[in-house]
Amino acid sequence: MHARRPIIIANWKLNGGIDLMCSSVASFIRKHYEAEIVVCPPYIYIRDMLNFLQHSEIRIGSQNVSKFESGAYTGETSAQMLKEAGCKFCLIGHSERRAMFRENNASCQIKVERALAHNLTPVLCIGENQEERENQITKDVLTRQLTEGLEGIDLTDKNICIAYEPVWAIGTGKAASPEIAQEVHQFIRHELAALYGEECAQGIRLLYGGSVNKTNAKQLLTQEDIDGLLVGGASLDPEHFLDICQQAT
Ligand code: G3P
Repeated sequence: MHARRPIIIANWKLNGGIDLMCSSVASFIRKHYEAEIVVCPPYIYIRDMLNFLQHSEIRIGSQNVSKFESGAYTGETSAQMLKEAGCKFCLIGHSERRAMFRENNASCQIKVERALAHNLTPVLCIGENQEERENQITKDVLTRQLTEGLEGIDLTDKNICIAYEPVWAIGTGKAASPEIAQEVHQFIRHELAALYGEECAQGIRLLYGGSVNKTNAKQLLTQEDIDGLLVGGASLDPEHFLDICQQAT
């Protein structure tokens, strides 16, 4: 049996500002956590967050990464820059990026490669939308997102996380039930085992995201294949997020 350390990630999305940064730092600093805690603020706050939290156990991640290394790509930020800035993690393929910024499995695959090449831990986000669930093609969608998003990438001895975020649960207040979430996470681990072998699959941390809050966190975290949570809205309230973090043991 692999002992996978729980991980809780805050995704601020395009929210927050100096006030949230300061109140988060005040809440998070000088606490010990059983779980690994990661905060993904907008790029502009990454350096300040790192400076403020340098003596804490909190890690910083980015919400995205460029698929390009360098060059004439206005507005982009490379994996190397994120690494140099002090990031340890980066989200890749969040459903909002897929839906609004035309990201797809192929671009995610490049981004995962870039992140791994620069020793950032990619958190590849996958998940079906409402229509796909109703049409009972959830597993097909997830299999494609995994096989295409990881195509040709050797994950042996690499750090990567997979976040299952059903689109219908994001920001809706309707989280997947622990049973549904566990069923899907088990399926994802099974698919990873088919791609990389059981040993590797057992070592990969799988996170659930979608309307996580302090009331449903514990039940989700106690499911066998759920190793962590990716938290959106509830992470914008530092005390609420702290409560979720402290439930991960
Ligand atoms: O990445 C986290 C996110 O998409 C879930 O958002 O607000 O439903 O927790 P929320």
